[in-house]
Amino acid sequence: MLKEDRRLQMLERIIKEHNYQKSALLEVLHAAHELYGYFDKPLLTYIAERLNLPPSHVYGVASFYHLFKFRKPGEHVISACMGTACYVKGVEEIITAIEREFNIKRGGSSPDGRLSLFVTRCIGACAMAPNITIDNEVVGRATKEVVLDKIRKVLGG
Ligand code: FES
Repeated sequence: MLKEDRRLQMLERIIKEHNYQKSALLEVLHAAHELYGYFDKPLLTYIAERLNLPPSHVYGVASFYHLFKFRKPGEHVISACMGTACYVKGVEEIITAIEREFNIKRGGSSPDGRLSLFVTRCIGACAMAPNITIDNEVVGRATKEVVLDKIRKVLGG
């Protein structure tokens, strides 16, 4: 699967530019993440092989950085803040409503792959709690009704 992927040729070129140096791991991970949008096991194993590093080391470094994703994101990404302020203001109820309405579980994607739901830590907008991000839009003082409606709209329904 990975072999027929054109992105892999681009990644290979980048690894080659770094002379297959172990020290280039972070640059290579960034490049791979930009190309694929997320990491899966074959991709991390490939990077480990090309840089002659143990896969566990590569996985450890990749998982240290929160901006790296390990699941293929859906077409639309919903992110719910689970920081204290948002939690106190009822974000859990909104998350549950999203899960129910779109047949999705936090950390996962809908069966048709169109929607992903993630939970994050405090996004620094506690005064507007609870906060939900729909793609790039932050919905502050979110309510279940408003959020479900906005998600239906981005899905074109
Ligand atoms: S706790 Fe949600 S923005 Fe701070």
